[in-house]
Amino acid sequence: MAIQFDSTNRVFHLTTKHTSYLFSVFDHNYLYTAYYGRKLRGTPDLSRLWQKYPSGFSPNYEGAPDVNYALDIIPTEYPAYGGGDFRCPAVGVQFENGSRIIDPQYVSHTITDGSEELEGLPSLSGGDQTLEVLLRDEPTGLAIVLKYIVFEDIDVITRSARIINKTGAPVTVTEALSMSMDLPIADYDMIGLYGAHIRERQIDRSPMRHGTQSVGSRRGTSSHHHNPFMAFAEKTATEEQGSVYGISLIYSGNWIGRAEVDPFGGARVQMGIHPAGFAWRLADGETFVTPEAVMTYSAEGLGQMSRNFHNAYRYHLGHTKRRNVRRPIVINNWEATYFDFDEEKLLGIIESCKGLGIDTFVLDDGWFGHRDTDNSSLGDWFVHTGKLPHGLTPLIEKCEEQGMTFGLWFEPEMISEDSELYRAHPDWALKQDGRPFCRGRQQLILDLSREDVLEYLEKTVGGVLKNNRISYVKWDMNRHFTEAYSAALPPERQGEVFHRFVLNLYRFMAYLTENFPDVVFEGCSGGGGRFDPGILYYQPQIWTSDDSDAIERLKIQYGTSMVYPPQSMTAHVSASPNHQMNRVTPYNTRALVAMSASFGYEFNPLQLTDEERLAIKTQTERYRKVSDMVLKGDFYRLQNPFETNACAWMFVLPDKSKACAVYVRQLNLPADPVTVLKFRGLDPEATYHIEELDADFGGDELMYAGVALPHLWDFEATCFTLTKK
Ligand code: GLA
Repeated sequence: MAIQFDSTNRVFHLTTKHTSYLFSVFDHNYLYTAYYGRKLRGTPDLSRLWQKYPSGFSPNYEGAPDVNYALDIIPTEYPAYGGGDFRCPAVGVQFENGSRIIDPQYVSHTITDGSEELEGLPSLSGGDQTLEVLLRDEPTGLAIVLKYIVFEDIDVITRSARIINKTGAPVTVTEALSMSMDLPIADYDMIGLYGAHIRERQIDRSPMRHGTQSVGSRRGTSSHHHNPFMAFAEKTATEEQGSVYGISLIYSGNWIGRAEVDPFGGARVQMGIHPAGFAWRLADGETFVTPEAVMTYSAEGLGQMSRNFHNAYRYHLGHTKRRNVRRPIVINNWEATYFDFDEEKLLGIIESCKGLGIDTFVLDDGWFGHRDTDNSSLGDWFVHTGKLPHGLTPLIEKCEEQGMTFGLWFEPEMISEDSELYRAHPDWALKQDGRPFCRGRQQLILDLSREDVLEYLEKTVGGVLKNNRISYVKWDMNRHFTEAYSAALPPERQGEVFHRFVLNLYRFMAYLTENFPDVVFEGCSGGGGRFDPGILYYQPQIWTSDDSDAIERLKIQYGTSMVYPPQSMTAHVSASPNHQMNRVTPYNTRALVAMSASFGYEFNPLQLTDEERLAIKTQTERYRKVSDMVLKGDFYRLQNPFETNACAWMFVLPDKSKACAVYVRQLNLPADPVTVLKFRGLDPEATYHIEELDADFGGDELMYAGVALPHLWDFEATCFTLTKK
């Protein structure tokens, strides 16, 4: 049984293959967070670890056994503000009478086999067991259900909450986090993924300090700037050893992740929807559901934490049938043409892909309305006849003649002021009449919190997919939210705009994936600005960054791999000098970095030399050979590009029969001592043949002694393909 309840001591014990999570029903039916870590036998009552002491200025709740009992110092599963806990709350509600005081206490629980996905929100499926714990604020009747799902094999536990209004009057939910957990000792480093446009998911690792430290987004999307993920690692934890807690949120809108280190050395860690600007009206009888947080604990360092997340997101997230199957090798015309193309030019590009081994041509921005620059036409999802007088058909037919398929770019959540859509529906943009508003990339956000907008998008974007043979969609989102005011919502519901937008975005994506199940959807938001599990539920791969430079991509892809499996990252070989960095890098390096993900190209094939064409043919052949490892392999980070002058990683099939490793030198250094690469994850008892060296090695030798690396100049790379004999 993955979930046990000791009814004598009233202790819940959630177990996975290697971990235990325990909490108990404590004095006065408060939920006491007891333990998360390595697996424990039995169901010990760990509340006995609690050291009683009277804490000055920590008030005792009514009926507390003695002065030691104060909510301010008791580790609590889902804390609220207004009673005696002054630390960060997980839930906040304003009642009809203006009161914001709540005091949730345990009422009952259920344990059921299997799991159900959340209503209206993307979440994991295929869990082993589910625990639901009902809490109630007795004076008002407000109910809260805490939901825990255990995924035994992959060491994952998910959490979410439902707030149910049973008060007999409307209430406003002002804060509703997905999880809260009190760790007894805050002696950890907090790890986050911060960044910016063209520099996403850099790794930040800083010691926790007293007070609240937080990451998050108030930008309307999960953002380039912080990713909805936090880890807490023992100070000595490395890739391979040490305790690490990881938390990831399946959500694509405003979010917060925070840790509050209290004066007594404990830490409260929390994640969920960002409370800034959030206020959700709940009529009597209605329920608010929080997004799902995915938690994992690894006693074997960051590498195992990441592999647990990868398994969760590869095997338990989403319903698209394109997950875990080889994705097409794509060529995208953005960096080849930008907006400057017409039918003839595109036909030439498609024609020149012949014989390269590319599966799909994707037509990027500029094919619709009268879009010749980025100042118009978003919302007008019909063909730009000035550029494409015969529509998309000649392009599609040209692709098909060559055994390729056709893909198309959309940016459905946007509206340009210069568009037919805006002229017909100026109130469909998020903004407030009588107040100046910001433009981002000269565009506005379409108010997807509105039902009529959702219908319009289903009809227009769906119509293009229905009427054309399109096998691939790149879905972009190129600005963040400002003046988030909806003309369609009443005053008391304006605090719902951000979350309603996300809910309708998910409905729209569900509509498209259900109606066009064979289409591969690729997410994008100015590159990797919405790289989160909420999007991955519907769109199995995401354009990782608008920075396509192979050397910058080392850090971006390495950081992204903390949480997300390499198959979820789109990576393309682009031109050299690179358009974002002006850096010149070898073809081989660009290819090996891009092949460590969902692979493709982003340049003008008409400009290739014969030698380069041959190189591309070899690359696409190689990718077909290794793509199974990228999809299904366990991922090991070998060398950290943030800390060393190189970057290396490898993929090992779960049965350890095959592996491949990539090593990239950043700058060449005189007398650089690092000349050996040690592999991970192999079978130490087995013998492996390395294709590139045409030699056999013991798995133990490869992992513990390593292989000698060839001399590599600036930005050069090498790879090793291993087969078990
Ligand atoms: C964003 C994307 C790019 C490209 C452009 C088109 O920046 O990330 O890949 O599609 O938009 O405008």
